[in-house]
Amino acid sequence: MKTLLLTSAEAEKAASILRSGGLVALPTETVYGLGASALEEEAVKRIFEVKGRPQDNPLIIHVAGPEALSEWCEAVPESAYILAERYWPGPLTLVLRCRKTGEPHIPDRVTAGLDTVAVRCPDHPATLEVIRLAGVPVAAPSANLSGKPSTTTALHCLHDLEGKVEAILDGGPCRVGLESTILDLTVTPPRVLRPGGITLEQLRESLREVELDRGLVLPGETPKAPGMKYRHYAPSAELTLVRCRDAEAFIQYAKGVPDEGTAVLCWTGEENAFPGKQVLAYGRGDEPETLAAHVFAALRELDRPEISRILVRCPEEDGVGLAVVNRLKKAAGGKILCL
Ligand code: TXA
Ligand code: MG
Repeated sequence: MKTLLLTSAEAEKAASILRSGGLVALPTETVYGLGASALEEEAVKRIFEVKGRPQDNPLIIHVAGPEALSEWCEAVPESAYILAERYWPGPLTLVLRCRKTGEPHIPDRVTAGLDTVAVRCPDHPATLEVIRLAGVPVAAPSANLSGKPSTTTALHCLHDLEGKVEAILDGGPCRVGLESTILDLTVTPPRVLRPGGITLEQLRESLREVELDRGLVLPGETPKAPGMKYRHYAPSAELTLVRCRDAEAFIQYAKGVPDEGTAVLCWTGEENAFPGKQVLAYGRGDEPETLAAHVFAALRELDRPEISRILVRCPEEDGVGLAVVNRLKKAAGGKILCL
């Protein structure tokens, strides 16, 4: 199959591919998504095949705005409208009861048979236009092959998906750089299943009480979001996530690791402290948004045969830092080295 590369001005073309059951990689503010009409079961099935995604891992549906909540969900609590009003379009996914009857409704293939559905409204003008023109909810997981770092540019999508999907819409690099926050509104108090672009602090400003899923904080607990239990985002090299009090401690630790085959993923300003090793800075330690924006691109860049070991400087878990650390921990197979 020849994969078309579309520009932001070709939303109508992308929408018509989706309407006719094809797959299109679409830009969002978080990461690129691999989109299909959520109402076309065959197309949704192909998403799983193309990504090599386990069948038990449900997809997020992407909608044009809060009015879609009552269309695809039932028993929608007031809090959903408050949050959608405040943060949509934006990096917040809401888990709600899925309407299972009436036509059309979201098929089990999208929700992996759960009685809930994850819904979000992405903040990217071209993709919002595609959703509106297609006139259907768009089911879209991140556009990477399963297990690999998410894609934040059209070129990364092309690398993973060329020849396997009808089109990729190039909407430039993703602003946030890691996936949306997933908030489960079917439990009391609401629970964060995956940290992301909207922070726990922001959610706690809007809702009285918000919990973190135990699977995010306690080792050995199974996360409630099915996708959060898989190893993820991993380059081929072994990744060591290093938590340390300052740059000096990290530099000293890195000195003790052989240069050959080692890459260091550090913070901006520290690049010259690791002579003999491959070095890449992924953002500023005091600005976690910059780390979030570049972490996946950095992991992809270091996914090279000559690199067998990656040492990563771990940020603080405040604000978006919580999401950055969550993704890096997954890439490291759950381990974190505390100096
Ligand atoms: O920012 C994002 O959310 C991106 C862009 C493309 O929108 N999408 C994304 O999708 O990250 P994906 O498929 O890579 O991750 C979706 C996560 C998975 O961990 C999945 O298990 C969880 O959402 N999920 C989906 N539906 C769910 C549900 N009904 N209940 C709990 N978790 C759900
Ligand atoms: Mg993903």
